[in-house]
Amino acid sequence: MSYSPDSNRYQQMEYRRCGNSGLKLPLISLGLWHNFGKIDGFENCRNILHTAFDNGITHFDLANNYGPPPGAAEVTFGKIFKEDFKPYRDELIISSKAGYQMWEGPYGDFGSKKYLIASLDQSLQRMGLEYVDIFYHHRPDPETSLEETMSTLDLIVRQGKALYVGISSYQPAEAEKAFAVLKRLGTPCIIHQPRYSMLDRWIEDGLLDLLEKEKVGCITFSSLAQGLLTNKYLNGIPEDSRVGRHLENGAIGESQLTEETLQKIKQLNELAIARNQTLAQMSLAWVLKDERITSAILGASKPQQVTDAIEAIKNYHFSKEELNKIEFILKQ
Ligand SMILES: NC(=O)c1ccc[n+]([C@@H]2O[C@H](COP(=O)([O-])OP(=O)(O)OC[C@H]3O[C@@H](n4cnc5c(N)ncnc54)[C@H](OP(=O)(O)O)[C@@H]3O)[C@@H](O)[C@H]2O)c1
Repeated sequence: MSYSPDSNRYQQMEYRRCGNSGLKLPLISLGLWHNFGKIDGFENCRNILHTAFDNGITHFDLANNYGPPPGAAEVTFGKIFKEDFKPYRDELIISSKAGYQMWEGPYGDFGSKKYLIASLDQSLQRMGLEYVDIFYHHRPDPETSLEETMSTLDLIVRQGKALYVGISSYQPAEAEKAFAVLKRLGTPCIIHQPRYSMLDRWIEDGLLDLLEKEKVGCITFSSLAQGLLTNKYLNGIPEDSRVGRHLENGAIGESQLTEETLQKIKQLNELAIARNQTLAQMSLAWVLKDERITSAILGASKPQQVTDAIEAIKNYHFSKEELNKIEFILKQ
């Protein structure tokens, strides 16, 4: 039977403008870094995507290297897109990126024109798309000039292969330079994608102020610290969890589950319960309390995690006392 999305989907979600662009993004977006590879069940992938869209999540975030193996998440997405989402293309914001190692040799990594152009062509082919809505440079390249990388992003937009461009994991000083080059070229950067959670707050040290000043949107990743900021590790390591599955490719492992972190998670969980939220909901709400955050990208291994997490948008306001308690727990 063909997929027909929930007709109430736009009543479930809130949307924020991305910087001063014309684009609005859902407060919660869905990322396909993990759980959409060749090793993952196809029907589960499909159910996660359906559940997301049924709840107003219009933005799916991908990259060339998501898998495993690299490229597999775009293949999985492309298959589901073709079968279920094609009629809804104009309701979707699909992003991809290039910047990490994708193929062997000197042209499959970082930020050269050669790499970015070839990589996006490959991504479009894997996903069966004519264009992506947002194309990112995935991480700074210490060797290639910003002029080359940014003018390639500009070219990609002029070629019609992406509507908007963004950067990911750039520090404030290099981000500021990138914004200036893109502005001069006439293709403004509309979005920055950094890691941000209660356990990793580096963007509070200059980046958020810069994005506000430059009117660039901010979409955060790993806001649940890859699952640490949920209730799943409170009583051990479940076999089907990211830690329990012993994945590679940047996934958290047992070494991150220190006694110190567990103590923080336990106390944060108590606070979440007092707010009538799950810890996943409170962790996303904590990120979204700052209006400068356009969206938080959620990773999910089950459809139920999506339905749980999106409840965060029902209460992302914190009292001074709650914020103080969180600061106290995090500083212990
Ligand atoms: N730009 C970059 O360099 C970069 C880097 C990393 C990620 N990203 C983007 O950000 C997205 C999200 O990253 P992430 O996967 O690290 O995000 P995350 O949301 O911090 O972690 C996702 C994991 O949290 C667990 N989870 C989610 N909802 C839950 C719930 N309601 N209850 C309990 N557990 C829950 C699941 O773990 P289990 O699998 O254990 O069930 C899930 O796989 C990626 O898919 C990608 O699109 C970008």
